[in-house]
Amino acid sequence: MNSIEDYVRAIPKAELHLHIEGTLEPEMVFDLARKHGITLRYPSVEALREAYRFSDLQSFLDVYYAGAQVLRDESDFHALTAAYLHRAHADGVVHVEVFFDPQTHTARGVPFHAVLGGIRRALTDTGRALGITHRLILCFLRHLSADDAMQTLEQALPHADAITAVGLDSSEAGHPPTKFASVFERARNEGFLTVAHAGEEGPPGYISEALDLLQVKRIDHGVRCEEDPDLVSRLARDRVPLTMCPLSNVKLRVFDRIQDHNLKRLLERGLCVTVNSDDPAYFGGYIAENYLAVYRALGLSRGDIAQLASNSIEASFLPAAAKDAWLEKIRALSDRT
Ligand code: ADE
Ligand code: ZN
Repeated sequence: MNSIEDYVRAIPKAELHLHIEGTLEPEMVFDLARKHGITLRYPSVEALREAYRFSDLQSFLDVYYAGAQVLRDESDFHALTAAYLHRAHADGVVHVEVFFDPQTHTARGVPFHAVLGGIRRALTDTGRALGITHRLILCFLRHLSADDAMQTLEQALPHADAITAVGLDSSEAGHPPTKFASVFERARNEGFLTVAHAGEEGPPGYISEALDLLQVKRIDHGVRCEEDPDLVSRLARDRVPLTMCPLSNVKLRVFDRIQDHNLKRLLERGLCVTVNSDDPAYFGGYIAENYLAVYRALGLSRGDIAQLASNSIEASFLPAAAKDAWLEKIRALSDRT
């Protein structure tokens, strides 16, 4: 029998919760700062990595938005995305649904088309070379106004063929899904699918609101659903996918220790739980490290790993035929081990 590390990396999986700006490794921060003549506040790559100690979501977001300032032109976004795809390929990712935050860049003068163009060119050329399929999800920053989100949606409309869904990220507490109900309604009318971060730091009521008002197909994180038993029943009954990110939750102190994570309980309860990496450059591991962390800390079986991988395919926006083909490959691989 092969090692668990090999098994986790071999199993075909989809990554459904990945902020492309969160794959910006310290080495690339320094390379791009040099390229653009930017002086950084940190003397070295090591010093920057050392600064990645967070007390909550906001303390992370402050560092994350500061880091993103080095992304200035189309080729930066291409390099960032291509580097991520190589890391993902090594971890057995066969399909990725990438979040990007245009407002982080357009607010400082980077054109929308440069952001989208660079990401898209890498997803197409490097993705094809590595055999990774993709979808793109445009996220609105919830700490900004609904008007700002609406303007961003309007900027995206000419590129609608390249963008499958819209999402909602950034500071959760105090910015409920209701704030964006009309933006999401417009997005749905324009043909976009919808997802939203909810129940990461915010209360379970935000998860219900995201489902009822934003009509989301998936909940990003969703760990706080457990505080509302009726909501847990609803999520199980409707197989609403939760895109969980275990290493992120520990780094941002949603759970004190990985052993405290509720992923296994919710999986056993019949929810469509998936494992993802969120912002891997900041949280100490890409997707395989997230699978291995919960395998080790929560005492999962190889069957559970196969279930998590199958859930990721089921929860993706791939067409049914592609889903069936990957599910069959996962079954064949798990039967052999
Ligand atoms: N943006 C990047 N990572 C995020 C997270 N974990 N929660 C909310 N917004 C984010
Ligand atoms: Zn996230």
